[in-house]
Amino acid sequence: MREDVLNIKNEAIAQIMEAKSAEELENLRISYLGRNGKLNKLTKELKYLGTEERKESGRLINEAKNTLLKQFSSQKNSLKESVHEWFDPTIPGIKPEIGHLHLVTQAINEIASTFERLGFVRVRYPEVEWDWFAFGALNMEKDHPARDEWETFFIDVKDHTKYGQMVLTPHTSSGQIREMQRVKTPPIRMINIAKCYRRQQDISHVPMFHQFEGLVIDKGISITHLKGTLDYFARNFFGKERVTRLRPFHFQFTEPSFEVDITCGVCKGKGCKLCKEGLLELGGAGMVHPVVLKNGGIDPNIYSGFAFGWGVERTYMMKSGLNIPDVRLLYSSDLRFLRQF
Ligand code: FA5
Repeated sequence: MREDVLNIKNEAIAQIMEAKSAEELENLRISYLGRNGKLNKLTKELKYLGTEERKESGRLINEAKNTLLKQFSSQKNSLKESVHEWFDPTIPGIKPEIGHLHLVTQAINEIASTFERLGFVRVRYPEVEWDWFAFGALNMEKDHPARDEWETFFIDVKDHTKYGQMVLTPHTSSGQIREMQRVKTPPIRMINIAKCYRRQQDISHVPMFHQFEGLVIDKGISITHLKGTLDYFARNFFGKERVTRLRPFHFQFTEPSFEVDITCGVCKGKGCKLCKEGLLELGGAGMVHPVVLKNGGIDPNIYSGFAFGWGVERTYMMKSGLNIPDVRLLYSSDLRFLRQF
């Protein structure tokens, strides 16, 4: 009898501690302490025992009942605590740290909305592209020396029979041909903002950066449209008093080609340490080369167009009031830097 009581007690304690709900606890209580429960069954057998053993076993049964009652009550309390955690609504709350969009994302949104006001449509094209879209169709046939300027990452896969090697887009100009193929018949007013990749890394270069590429094609498009568009962007993005200057340059895919300068925000065009002549360089632009139009399936005898492609990071760094000394800081994940914006 003594052993039976101890076994039942230990078995009950183990089960009570495992119980996950009030209902489970109540079922256990009935099965161990109820009128027909396991301990009461033993009580009914006491009468068959000798006097000494009856006394001893009776005492043990009572002790077991008391232990189990305490165990039930403590398990009940801990179940209650885990369901309803104590909550004091008068304690001042913990202020959550609120993040913000990355500087480059802010720049992209602002650039996109400035051009959208002029009727440009934002598009995106593959970041992993075929050589033909990045170079060949842009008037830079295989082995053309101009390609060297775009220090390109090549992907180690089988060449496309028509489009050649696979590359990481070194510039957003690869979207020009894709847009001509998509629209087929002008007008085209595209703004393509995307990641670009080049094997470069220094104070003004990162291996992954962003460019925004504008492309306008229609009947009668001339350099005056290009200049007007760039001035509109400069005034809206950089400030009312800023204007652009086109400086002759060379790109294989535009003719004529220009580098675009903008009046310096620090000296307002007078000349200072940052800009020297009152102007800062922004990026490339030009009138779309007839060969490129042809490659895109557009007749250069009917249509003409302009294109420009600038770095998002570089352009944002030139925005009035921002003095970012090293483009790599933008991608350093240094919160002391990022929290300032
Ligand atoms: C081009 O990439 C031409 N596709 C631009 C163009 C488009 C010309 C349409 C004419 C018509 P370029 O290699 O100069 O040009 O790059 C343009 C801009 O991208 C640069 O002025 C710079 O702002 C940015 N850029 C280029 N390489 C990097 C780099 N590694 N890190 C950060 N910005 C870069």
